[in-house]
Amino acid sequence: MSLDLGPKLKSACDDSLHKAKMAWKAGDSEQAAQHFDQASKLMLKFAEYANSRAQEYQRKRKAIEYREFAGRLRELHNEQAAGAKAAKLPAPPSNDEDIDSRQTEQAGNKSELSNAVNSLIHVSPVTWDDIGGLEQTKRDIKYTLGLSLATPPKGVKIATFRNIMFYGPPGTGKTLIAAATSNALKVTSDGQALFFNVKVSGVMSKYFGESSKIISEIYGTARDNSPSVVFLDEFESLTASRGSDEQSGAERRILSTILSELDGLTEKGRTDIFVLTIAATNRPWEIDNAVLSRFEKQILIPLPDPVTREAILKIQTEKKGFVLECELPELVKLTEGYSGREIERLVKQVTSTMISELNADLPDVIDKGLAQAKNYQVKVRPLTLKDFQVAAEGIRPVTSPEEAARYLDWRQDQD
Ligand SMILES: Nc1ncnc2c1ncn2[C@@H]1O[C@H](COP(=O)(O)OP(=O)(O)OP(=O)(O)O)[C@@H](O)[C@H]1O
Ligand SMILES: [Mg+2]
Repeated sequence: MSLDLGPKLKSACDDSLHKAKMAWKAGDSEQAAQHFDQASKLMLKFAEYANSRAQEYQRKRKAIEYREFAGRLRELHNEQAAGAKAAKLPAPPSNDEDIDSRQTEQAGNKSELSNAVNSLIHVSPVTWDDIGGLEQTKRDIKYTLGLSLATPPKGVKIATFRNIMFYGPPGTGKTLIAAATSNALKVTSDGQALFFNVKVSGVMSKYFGESSKIISEIYGTARDNSPSVVFLDEFESLTASRGSDEQSGAERRILSTILSELDGLTEKGRTDIFVLTIAATNRPWEIDNAVLSRFEKQILIPLPDPVTREAILKIQTEKKGFVLECELPELVKLTEGYSGREIERLVKQVTSTMISELNADLPDVIDKGLAQAKNYQVKVRPLTLKDFQVAAEGIRPVTSPEEAARYLDWRQDQD
């Protein structure tokens, strides 16, 4: 039964931590980083077996802590490899059970609402390098982060962006960028940085009457953990029924709560807090102007242009170790009109077909026992244009050229 898995995960996690700390003591930052990463993954899994939301939250925070620490160790390692002189390794995070359980108990006394918020906390491994193309958007965001975190000259107040909206067709990288943004905050700050991945429609339907309280709680927790990112996905569902008489009291409440958070009213002018709101939508035209005007930056994430498609194709093939026996420009041409998600699907289809063709004997090997299976060398071959052409037959872009143009028109209307 799955119930037995909790203690096993805990002990595997402890084991990884032990190894991590041994490697750390021995000054092997690379090994230590690997074990801390492993401990983080196990802790994250272990969080699924928590008895309460509060406990789950504690475990997720631990997982983040281990992963961040692994990142810092890697940075040190790279700096040293680049010739920097050996620095003293930072102290590793504790896995002190007592502290954990005390915190858990305290947290356990917190309201059910904050527990609901914990379920929205997301740990994501996405980095800027995982995002192909979109260079200007990445630069814009890094600039915004930099300006918000940097120290201005004494006496100078610099207004920074706190609300960004991404709009564009499905599968173009909006969620990916939000996740990388929250990751970037983790690297630049030493404190905790959490990623609140909030599907607005989900919060509305699941917590209906309570949803505005949930939003307040999310922002409260985000502020406590500044710097952090609140990602409001499917943002249009917030205001979709506005204007029609059907908008309920709960919908009005959640809207006014979000608006006051976007206005930063609850931050009361504090400049030491940085909570970045990123909203994403496929249907910006459904969002009314009062809400739109709160977003200082509205960024179109369009269907990928040829340069971006090439970058995504590289990420999906070469970066994953597959060899191409065709020219990238041919694939760029083949994938015209595709979103990033469709390119990902195409490559998955191509690689899995190729692998299943070359390794048709794998089921028989399993019959011979696990040891045999472990010794089995999976065979691969370079991918040809034909492979891609065959797979592309089955993948039709969800966004038509007309729909893609609608985003451009809408942008023009906003100017
Ligand atoms: N620019 C990109 N670089 C690399 N991969 C991409 C890119 N855009 C999309 N992808 C791939 O497509 C998948 C879906 O992207 P993502 O979830 O960010 O889309 P989205 O814009 O949030 O879509 P939706 O509007 O449907 O929520 C990603 O997991 C990734 O594999
Ligand atoms: Mg998304």
